[in-house]
Amino acid sequence: MKIFKYEELDSTNKFIKSLDNLQEYDIVIAKKQTAGRGRRGNPWTTELGAGLFSFLVEEKEGISIEEYTKLPLIIGYSVLKGLKKIENLDYKFKWTNDVYVQDKKISGILVEKMENKFVIGIGININNKMHSSVENIGISLREITEKEYSIDEVVIEVVEEFKKNYDKFINGKWEEILLEINKLNYLFGKRIKISGIGEIQEGIAGDILEDGRLEVYIGDIKKAFNIGEIHIAK
Ligand code: BTN
Repeated sequence: MKIFKYEELDSTNKFIKSLDNLQEYDIVIAKKQTAGRGRRGNPWTTELGAGLFSFLVEEKEGISIEEYTKLPLIIGYSVLKGLKKIENLDYKFKWTNDVYVQDKKISGILVEKMENKFVIGIGININNKMHSSVENIGISLREITEKEYSIDEVVIEVVEEFKKNYDKFINGKWEEILLEINKLNYLFGKRIKISGIGEIQEGIAGDILEDGRLEVYIGDIKKAFNIGEIHIAK
């Protein structure tokens, strides 16, 4: 595991994709991103002090692409576990891969596929203050504890944790991870809106299922969702 650190990059995900000599688990960290990207093509902007990094993971033979839909869940869970080692707070896992604490988002993840590799990009609010435009929905470690953290330490803890969980996954132990994830399921019992394909539906979130989908109770009917945005209904 090598670590490459930059003062400024457009996006650590984009940068890592332009390199051709990186090994699995080599990490690129940027202090600042000028064109950070979130999911669904959204921009991802953070104040200085956030943990912004990406690393590569190889697709393993014998694991189907359907199985790999669980990868974001494994990453989110690993971020949560890594953070827990740094600061023991009551983090929750928000399906499909966000980490929440005090009902606010502390980390977001962007997974991109490149040939037989996955580019895993992670943003964690560590020492940064949330911009006023997102202070109602995001929170940082420092805002909670008023402490300053070593970003490198957090990043290494998260990647080490991911390695462990990815090994479990490729060795057929997904059920063990799933059990843990379900204990931390932020959406469980919450009224949510699902706006994916078709009309917006409302229901009560249940467990995360073996195949990685989220169970939602819509009236008396139990449905499972794998795509579509999940919102917590107001
Ligand atoms: C999201 O919640 O929408 C995902 C946010 C992912 C942000 C990280 S920051 C490091 C890496 N580089 C990027 O451009 N995006 C990811």
